[in-house]
Amino acid sequence: MPATAVIGLQWGDEGKGKVIDHLAARADVVVRFAGGNNAGHTVFVGAEKYVLHLIPGGILHHGSINLIGRGVVVNLAALLKEMEGLEARGIPVAERLRIDGRAHLIFPYHMQMDGMAEVWRGAGRIGTTGRGIGPAYSDKVARTGIRLSDLLDPETFRTRLKAAMAEKTAVIEKVYGQVAESYEHLFEETRRAVERLRPLIVDGGALLRHAHAAGKRILFEGAQGTMLDLDAGTYPFVTSSWTGVWGIAGGTGFPPRSLDRAYAVSKAYCTRVGEGPFPTELSGELERRLREQGKEYGATTGRPRRCGWFDAVQARYAAALNGLDGVILTNLDVLYGFDPIRVAVAYRLPGGKVVTEYPAEHPALGEIEPVYEELAGWQDDISGALSFGELPAVTRAYVRFLERQMGVPIASLSVGPGRDQMFDGESAAAASWVKA
Ligand code: GDP
Ligand code: IMO
Ligand code: MG
Repeated sequence: MPATAVIGLQWGDEGKGKVIDHLAARADVVVRFAGGNNAGHTVFVGAEKYVLHLIPGGILHHGSINLIGRGVVVNLAALLKEMEGLEARGIPVAERLRIDGRAHLIFPYHMQMDGMAEVWRGAGRIGTTGRGIGPAYSDKVARTGIRLSDLLDPETFRTRLKAAMAEKTAVIEKVYGQVAESYEHLFEETRRAVERLRPLIVDGGALLRHAHAAGKRILFEGAQGTMLDLDAGTYPFVTSSWTGVWGIAGGTGFPPRSLDRAYAVSKAYCTRVGEGPFPTELSGELERRLREQGKEYGATTGRPRRCGWFDAVQARYAAALNGLDGVILTNLDVLYGFDPIRVAVAYRLPGGKVVTEYPAEHPALGEIEPVYEELAGWQDDISGALSFGELPAVTRAYVRFLERQMGVPIASLSVGPGRDQMFDGESAAAASWVKA
């Protein structure tokens, strides 16, 4: 695992947190490169549950450095709260955490604008997490954003915050008719927060390049999923960052050609939170059962997740875009009792044309009809399986079918939320790379 990426293959919540935690035991550096506290990555250590939002998943492991890369948008209050929560549980956060000074900040006005933008979108709302992600990235691109390093010098911060707030306050009050936060309060509060973080602020790109040159193992932790990517996803029902492997270099300062391996995490079915096209979405009793068996409620907002069958058209597309070495298949245990299990292998477009490649014309995505293959299901509880060979024959056949459909080896399988409920796939070569 010299420099390995692990990203989401679907619409987020694929189980990246669990997989990263599993791999982080062997990593020297774990890095987030995109998104913010819209992410919710769940890790179980025995019966102890941790939900990480901004802090990378190596934080629970002794001996790893956890870097919040420059491509992440950071809400300082949320970060401090997360740090304190972990510290209260005995984790030496300051020892293990670093933050790139180039990372942009999320301020309360971004959250306010996120909420109001959703109101104005009306029926076309995205269903954002309300964390201010879109407005913070918009400011970064518009060059009115404020970076963590801008806070280190009070005068620079004062000038930049005044300029940003003059415009934001005008929009919040005159367009949205809301009350904007006072400048002085925000200035003082942010200054206090940054003093606590000052020792953790680094040049993240330099840290990674030096670590790589020294032969350290680096693990890049994806947030969200490929179908929520700003460019590759189901636009406009996406998040505002690059969630795929292509986001790593930009979001960290690690040269793209130095990445050795790329893996994606995928559920053995699909879920999505928020609005937007979801071709294999279920309804009624089947969806309800899948949601209950998979405990499919958002780790950040608690919203019930929309649930559906595995979509091989979508998975092939996402696998090809990311150039994967392997897929880590999670939540296989959740599918017990569904018989048959369906998998979308093609889409019938409005007008009747059948395609096996993911269509670029997204307006049609809401109206496409999946073409399903049916596979035999299983009744057994497989959450105690310790190897691929221990799975029922029908479960193995299901995994092999997904592997053939994606054209990418399934490197590992996960059969429960626990740290150790994970084992190698049939393709020993792909699995051994995850561990190399
Ligand atoms: P992330 O955002 O990709 O890190 O995923 P989340 O943590 O938001 O959601 C994944 C959920 O599935 C969490 O509740 C995990 O504890 C749980 N989980 C992960 N892997 C498995 C698995 O193999 N089986 C089951 N039943 N649950 C899993
Ligand atoms: P993890 O890392 C699932 C979704 C939101 C919404 C859209 C845009 O836990 O997989 P945003 O607040 O980013 O502007 O919302 O993206 N979304 C996620 N869905 N998992 C996530 O993160 C998500 N982060 C954002 O629900 O549809
Ligand atoms: Mg999540």
